[in-house]
Amino acid sequence: MYASSGIDLFDEATLADPYPAYARLRELGSVVRLEAHGVWALPRHASVATALRDPATYSSERALALTDPVNERLLAGTVVGTDGAAHARLRRVLSRQLAPRALKSLTLDLHEHARALVEALPHDGGFDAVADLAAPFVAGIVMRLMGLPDRDRALLLDLADATFDTFGPDNARTRAGLPHAEEMFGYLARVATRDTIAADSWLGAIHTAADHGDIDESQAVPLMLSYTVAGMDTTIHAITSALHLLAHTDQWAPIRDRAVPTDAVLAEALRMEAPIQFFGRRTTRDVHIGDTVVPAGEQVLLLYGSAGRDRDRWGPDADTFDITRDSRDHLALGSGIHQCAGNHLATLEFDAVLTALARRFRSLAPSPGQAPTRRPHNILRGWHTLPLVAA
Ligand code: HEM
Repeated sequence: MYASSGIDLFDEATLADPYPAYARLRELGSVVRLEAHGVWALPRHASVATALRDPATYSSERALALTDPVNERLLAGTVVGTDGAAHARLRRVLSRQLAPRALKSLTLDLHEHARALVEALPHDGGFDAVADLAAPFVAGIVMRLMGLPDRDRALLLDLADATFDTFGPDNARTRAGLPHAEEMFGYLARVATRDTIAADSWLGAIHTAADHGDIDESQAVPLMLSYTVAGMDTTIHAITSALHLLAHTDQWAPIRDRAVPTDAVLAEALRMEAPIQFFGRRTTRDVHIGDTVVPAGEQVLLLYGSAGRDRDRWGPDADTFDITRDSRDHLALGSGIHQCAGNHLATLEFDAVLTALARRFRSLAPSPGQAPTRRPHNILRGWHTLPLVAA
């Protein structure tokens, strides 16, 4: 016997507000069979953490997305979809660019970029935290670091968002995303060549790694997705979710007074609203989870978004955003060998934006009469528009 549920995690109502469904799954057990999708879900913090830290049992190969074509065509050979020594080889190439030491010289630049965008916001007026701030900030920085032309920013944002959508089941969003995900590969093969990309850029460093034999030539474009897909919407959604929560819970004063470190605010926002709601794994052996045996070869979804709301880990007020909470143990950036490689950059970006806003504005509030909107997405959670008023 095992716990099972008919919940469809990808219907419109559940995507709009997945938390009641997550609560039901957590009540059912540490592992629940999702009949609608033919996979298992891990909804609790403890079981997600255990799986993340045991990659020998929970493989990332042919496992991250819900359909075979995406796992086999789009994700094969990517850093996030590879195990063991092959993964370590790919990850080393990224670590050179994304390690705290490598990013140190960027800090000033990030703060200047954020300050310029915040200074350009209307005084005493409303602004859209997505279009006027988070998206131009993150995409502007990442395009430049990757070495890609800034005129392609909107295109890359669209392709990245659509690529993530293909991680879902065989539904309309996945199918609509597929041509765009294929185009991401086509774009990189055309535009990110040795001739066009600066050698000292992130994508240039991937060509250098191939030249040195650190990776195979065929791995270069899949490895580029580590930046073009993973480094955009994730951080935009993290920033805007935090701003939404801050504006709606009247917690701006401690931010303005620098009474709470920005990394603690980021951790709490990521706990509450994981920008990536889940990734899959595949069991390499029969595995006991609570009283259930999940057979070898089964797909298991790690529900990061649910783990962040687990009362067994976060207490009875798990659904409350509280910037004084110690949320460092959240799983929204993963954990273990696949833990987010862009974690340090995301933390620096968040600090730059929050510091610039705190310097300029004494208050941050929702824009009266203008509700924020979401775009339903198979795997990402964030705001499509977020009208705020700062003064
Ligand atoms: C707050 C923003 C971000 C969030 C919430 C986030 C989330 C995640 C998560 C959950 C994973 C774990 C994957 C797994 O366990 O299978 C991951 C991995 C990864 N992230 Fe991020 N990410 C963020 C920002 C970034 C940025 C800015 C970059 C790069 C510029 C990046 C690059 C990567 C890469 C390359 C991996 C794969 C690491 C590996 O497989 O070894 N991420 N991220």
